[in-house]
Order: sequence, then C-alpha cells, then structure tokens
Amino acid sequence: MNNRTFTMIKPDAFKNGHAGAILDRIIREGYNIKALKMTKLTPEKAGEFYAIHKERPFYNELVSFMCEGPIIAAILEKENAVEDFRKLIGATDPSKAEDNTIRKLYAASVGENAIHGSDSNENAKIEGDFMFSMLEQF
Ligand code: RTP
Ligand code: MG
Repeated sequence: MNNRTFTMIKPDAFKNGHAGAILDRIIREGYNIKALKMTKLTPEKAGEFYAIHKERPFYNELVSFMCEGPIIAAILEKENAVEDFRKLIGATDPSKAEDNTIRKLYAASVGENAIHGSDSNENAKIEGDFMFSMLEQF
C-alpha cells in the first residue's frame, strides 16, 4: 500500500511529555490513524526492529534506548505517506532538521531523536505488521 506509513514516538519524546503534541500535529497534517498502541519494547523486539543496523557502532545504544520506556506506535494513512512523513519528522540529526519539523521541535540528539518514520512503502508494511496484528489494523 503506497498510502500508509509506520511511526513510533520514541521513549525520549514520551518521557518528556511530547506524545500528545506530536500526535496532534500528525493528525493536523492530515494523517488518519489506522492503528495505535502504547507499549514498551523488549531488547529482543527492538533488536529485531533495527536488525538492519546490526553492524553499525550505535546498534547496542539504539536498542537499549528504544527499551528505556514506553513508546507509542501507529500506522498512518495519507496520500504519499512515507515520503511526506519523513519530511514532517525531519533529518535524523535534529540539529540538521528543518524548522518546524517534529525532530527540530522535540528531539535532543541523533541518538534520542523523538520519532521514527518508515523509509519505504515495503518497510512501512513490514514494520506495521511487526507491531500490530491484523485485528489491530483498521
Ligand atoms: P528511524 O529509522 O528511527 O526513523 O531514523 P532514521 O531513518 O532517520 O535513521 P536511521 O539511519 O534509520 O537510524 C536509525 C536510528 O539510529 C539512531 N542513530 N544513531 N549515533 C549515531 O550516529 C546514530 N545514527 C543513527 C537514531 O536514533 C536513528 O533514528
Ligand atoms: Mg530508519
């Protein structure tokens, strides 16, 4: 499906009280919520989710950060969702993110960068199915 993406509000943004503002922004930008849950990743789950980065030097740090506290996961629907959502969240490094992007507004560093957004339609489907059963997707 070319009109869906997957997101997680990461533990830093949740802990700092930004989850409500971020969800509100996502809805105001025209995304329809197709699945939503608050959960806490285990190291196994987070490790599998970010398996593509297994060989990178920041992998262990990334996995432990993602398990630090609750996250909010969602499947979002909008025309051109994957590409537009990456623009809305901004660059991985918040200091390089454009003004008014979610990472510019709410992220502190490249490691703790507030939000995830799928990078392709294929990964959006894989990631959404990883986090939500078919009964949880609308
Ligand atoms: P995400 O997958 O979380 O949406 O982030 P992204 O596409 O913008 O960045 P990606 O390259 O997929 O990296 C995944 C996450 O790994 C952490 N990271 N840390 N310390 C570092 O140099 C470094 N580089 C990446 C970030 O939390 C990034 O979001
Ligand atoms: Mg990525």
